[in-house]
Amino acid sequence: MEETERLAQLILESKRIIVFTGAGVSTESGIPDFRSPGGIWSRYDPEDFTIQRFLSSRETRRTHWKMYAETGIFTKAEPNPAHYATASLHHWGKLDCVITQNIDNLHQKAGVPDDRVLELHGNMQWVVCTGCRGRTPLPEVLQRVTDGAEAPDCPDCRGILKPDVVFFGEMLPEDTLARAVSRSQMCDLFIVIGSTLMVYPAAYMPTYALSGGAKLAIVNLTPTPLDHEAEVVIRGKAGEMMPAVMERVKLGRSSDFR
Ligand code: APR
Repeated sequence: MEETERLAQLILESKRIIVFTGAGVSTESGIPDFRSPGGIWSRYDPEDFTIQRFLSSRETRRTHWKMYAETGIFTKAEPNPAHYATASLHHWGKLDCVITQNIDNLHQKAGVPDDRVLELHGNMQWVVCTGCRGRTPLPEVLQRVTDGAEAPDCPDCRGILKPDVVFFGEMLPEDTLARAVSRSQMCDLFIVIGSTLMVYPAAYMPTYALSGGAKLAIVNLTPTPLDHEAEVVIRGKAGEMMPAVMERVKLGRSSDFR
């Protein structure tokens, strides 16, 4: 049975599906991933994305805000067919939740309700003050950058503003992580889309799912350390492969209703 058919079969047989995504699910929306050739870590220094460097260096903050304002990748990007395919699992009542390492809000934009998206690394749509913890929508802060503020600070307490995302050296949001672990252990199918599965603790989630008896499926352009544990591995572009899988699920569902 070819791989897309096999994944469609697993989806038809499952009731509590978790879709786990990494940057690879958003590359077809124009957001570069981190470790592919030409990815973010080949263009920017990961050290500049540590919380220590961000808080201690005004120059680093200036570089960050300039990049966010000039690229607009977090305000202009739109969901691609892989995000919509994932949302269709929710519409069919088969999605337990999405666990994502991404900060781009595209799963929500594609129709997955906020309370079904566990964002392990935060969400770029908000900016938080490291002083008073006040939150501001990203576009408002980017407008200040466009108007000339190089490293905008908090208008209330003059504290350092930072995107509401997890920088290297920061803890992941505790409650979100705990929910991701417990849901991973209870799902019956765990579908990884677009991740190297190299960054922890996020990359523990598929292992928790396997230990809970779930089946594992991986949709990724390149090999991952868990391919050998997967029932099915689809080596292809998520924006093409996932709609093909969902077409087969729709056929399976309609025949179920015969
Ligand atoms: N379809 C399928 N797979 C894709 C596609 C695509 N269109 N584009 C890229 N990929 C694959 C790449 O081959 C790679 O294996 O997606 C994976 C992306 O891996 P990474 O760039 O390592 O991204 P991710 O796994 O999300 O990184 C995890 O690392 O730097 C930190 O915080 C950052 O959340 C990020 C974490």
